[in-house]
Amino acid sequence: MTKTLVLYFSNTGNTKRAAETIAQELGADLYRILPENAYTTEDLTWTNASCRANQEQNDEDSRPAYRGTLPDLTPYNQVIIGHPIWWGIPPKIIRTVLENLDLTGKKVAAFATSGGSTYHDAQKVMEQWTGLNLPQGRILSSPSSIKNWLKTI
Ligand SMILES: Cc1cc2nc3c(=O)[nH]c(=O)nc-3n(C[C@H](O)[C@H](O)[C@H](O)COP(=O)(O)O)c2cc1C
Repeated sequence: MTKTLVLYFSNTGNTKRAAETIAQELGADLYRILPENAYTTEDLTWTNASCRANQEQNDEDSRPAYRGTLPDLTPYNQVIIGHPIWWGIPPKIIRTVLENLDLTGKKVAAFATSGGSTYHDAQKVMEQWTGLNLPQGRILSSPSSIKNWLKTI
């Protein structure tokens, strides 16, 4: 039997909602990645070139810290990772998490929410950061898009 963990990062609730729908569909467990320092509205004001989120996305060496301890993946054979799109790709905190998570032997898939961008560039980046070939990720909004995507992973 497949036991799934939905691991997600969300600030304004969109990815959280999609992650919760997935968890409900699959009977999966949920884990919310929290940043060590929460993002304020100013931190996320992407129209300001020097806001914290923009600085992190522009800095190859940026590895924003997460809070606490990551979940033990031993009980799971599938891990689904959810994140917003920030400048076309996942937030750098996802990279920090992936560098501290052993996905060996797990079935992995990733999805996002966005303001309109597709998953195209994020797919390349997530494959690079995980070192895995992943099933095609998707921007998930409606419950029906979620159900359809889950059939493909
Ligand atoms: C710093 C930053 C950069 C963003 N860049 C993009 C982008 O390149 N393309 C896009 O469609 N949406 C972009 N967005 C919008 C988010 O992807 C979108 O609001 C997402 O659903 C937020 O997820 P959350 O509510 O789970 O935090 C950006 C948002 C932020 C804060």
